[in-house]
Amino acid sequence: MKIKEIPADRLDTKLFIEEKAGEIREAVRSGLAINALSGGVDSSAVTMLGHKALGPRLKTYFIDNGIMRQGEPREIASIFKKLGVKVEIVDAKEKFFKALRGITDPEEKREAITQTFYKDVFGCLVKKSRAKYLLQGTILTDVDETVAGIKRQHNVFEQLGIDPQKAFGYKILEPLIQLRKDGVRKVAAALGLPRSVSHRMPFPGPALSARIIGEATPQRIQIVRHATAITEDVLAKIRAFQYMAILHQDRVTGIRDKMRDFGMQLEIRCWDSIDARRGEPTKLSYETLSLLARRIVAEVPGVVSVTYNITPKPPSTMEAV
Ligand code: XMP
Repeated sequence: MKIKEIPADRLDTKLFIEEKAGEIREAVRSGLAINALSGGVDSSAVTMLGHKALGPRLKTYFIDNGIMRQGEPREIASIFKKLGVKVEIVDAKEKFFKALRGITDPEEKREAITQTFYKDVFGCLVKKSRAKYLLQGTILTDVDETVAGIKRQHNVFEQLGIDPQKAFGYKILEPLIQLRKDGVRKVAAALGLPRSVSHRMPFPGPALSARIIGEATPQRIQIVRHATAITEDVLAKIRAFQYMAILHQDRVTGIRDKMRDFGMQLEIRCWDSIDARRGEPTKLSYETLSLLARRIVAEVPGVVSVTYNITPKPPSTMEAV
């Protein structure tokens, strides 16, 4: 079935929230639902919408998959605590690293994460909580790119002919599926989420593993996490859609302490975009680029080369994997 898009400029947030909360209540009835909060605007909006609809009958989890950014699990749980929403952090680091072991192909990596999330982790949580529904923040862009075969977004099933009830044993509700990112931001603000959440930079479902070319080992995740923290710090005041650090697989010859250092290379990307469908590299100043390179090689052990991507989307995509 074709999904009817609601463009951000035609979105009546109050009406949308009432309608979607009503639909959630109608589907779940007197039962229970769960959802996973990652702190991104999509899952945050779904969390608030679900709580508006179901109150304590929605149980919210933060899945600590070991591939999130620095300090992210606690930071997000504390933001929601202030909003009166209890978030339980689930330690699933080992499960994810085990699933990612030895995988270098981008689509296989996404599939490993999908299976671990939906079968292993949510499967257990659904059994434990006895919920019948999973609420999730799939948006129209996720569906478009998956159906077009560009990237298998980890949260798209029905449009690929996969029935979550059969595959994983629970139903999935997707109240944001008619929106794009700009519409979700409006809904998030209308639901009372702080600007730090409603305007939070997008971050992919496969998290930092989408920013590693080649195998996502705990050590390589740590390198890209460190570089991400520096990149986000340096670019914090830049008005861009999204910025990121990507760890490459190839090594290059460098010099450190007058010795040869066959080291790692990181790529920085910074995007101007409205809805992630198209993107232009941000025209960062030379001083900013230089500061990024200097800080990364000085602070991230083993990195000898930093590059800046100047390719638009398309033909590039925003994430590397
Ligand atoms: P791409 O790389 O496809 O990214 O140009 C477009 C936007 O989508 C985000 N992205 C994802 N988000 N699951 C998500 O929830 C995914 O698998 C995924 N892959 C990419 C990306 O960060 C960008 O904002």
